[in-house]
Order: sequence, then structure tokens, then C-alpha cells
Amino acid sequence: MMQIFSNRTMAFLGMLALLAGCTPALSPQAGRDLFSQNCAACHGGAGQGGAQVPNLTTLAQRYGGTYPQSMVLDKLDGYARGQNAYAGAEMPEFGHLLTGPLTRVQTARGLSRPLPQHIVALDAYLQSVQQ
Ligand code: HEC
Repeated sequence: MMQIFSNRTMAFLGMLALLAGCTPALSPQAGRDLFSQNCAACHGGAGQGGAQVPNLTTLAQRYGGTYPQSMVLDKLDGYARGQNAYAGAEMPEFGHLLTGPLTRVQTARGLSRPLPQHIVALDAYLQSVQQ
């Protein structure tokens, strides 16, 4: 087989990618799996919610027609815990989801924010299930 790059070139390119902080995004399936493992028990297998737990497929509808990405990211990385009208019921903390490689996410107004890959994958999954 013809080799286009030498092993040494490949190693160098790999180092550059690491230095640039390019963490490849997790697959959409990864977000779905994380949701089943960590969220479905309360929010339902399809994110449809329950008596004390909000429906996550109507986030966009309930937040003025636009998926509320900053709120979701804040909620998931713990900044927005307990800031909701659902008295008595609270989101648990997900410390283990906050570990692992970081990836940069483009947010509103051209800003970007480094976030754990798992949080980003969950956010992408939630965006994909909006009605
Ligand atoms: C123990 C039950 C429970 C688990 C597990 C849980 N949640 Fe929640 N979640 C809640 C409750 C209760 C609320 C409403 C109170 C609040 O916003 O803190 C909520 C609120 C939310 C909201 C805000 C919804 C809105 O309409 O404002 C998002 C987004 C969310 N959860 C995502 C998730 C994700 C993603 C996971 C898995 C990583 C998860 N939740 C796991 C109980 C849970």
C-alpha cells in the first residue's frame, strides 16, 4: 500500500491537533446513550418528562421558539441548579459527566466556551429531539 505521509509526519500532525485543543465531537449516538443512562429515569426514555419533571422535547417551544442552549448547558454543568419553578424537585448533580476531555462550543454572539464532551453530546441530543 502506498503511504502518503511518513509515520513521523503523522505523529507530528497528531501533536499539532493536540496542541490546538481539537477534541473530536462525540457521535450523536453517544449523546443518546448518555441520556438513557443518566436522564431517562426522570425525564423519560424519549425526554417526554413527567408530573414533577419537565418535558425536554418542548424546550424550544417553551422558550419562545428557540432551543435555549445556554440554559441547558448551565443546567448540565451545574451553574443553574435549583433556579427553576419546579418547587421541591431538583436536578441531581452529574459530576462524573464533567470529567473527561473538553471541547469548544460555539455559543451566541460568536463566543465560544470550553465544555466537557459529555455535556456537549447531551446538548446535541436534546437539540435533535425538539418538537
Ligand atoms: C432525579 C431526576 C432527574 C434526573 C436524573 C435528571 N433530571 Fe433534569 N430535571 C429534573 C427536574 C426535577 C427538573 C426541574 C427542576 C430544575 O430545573 O432544576 C429538571 C430540569 C431539567 C432541565 C431544564 C428544563 C426546563 O424546562 O427548564 C434540563 C435541560 C434537564 N433537566 C436536563 C437533564 C439531563 C440532560 C439529564 C441527564 C444528564 C437530567 N436532566 C437528569 C430531574 C432530573
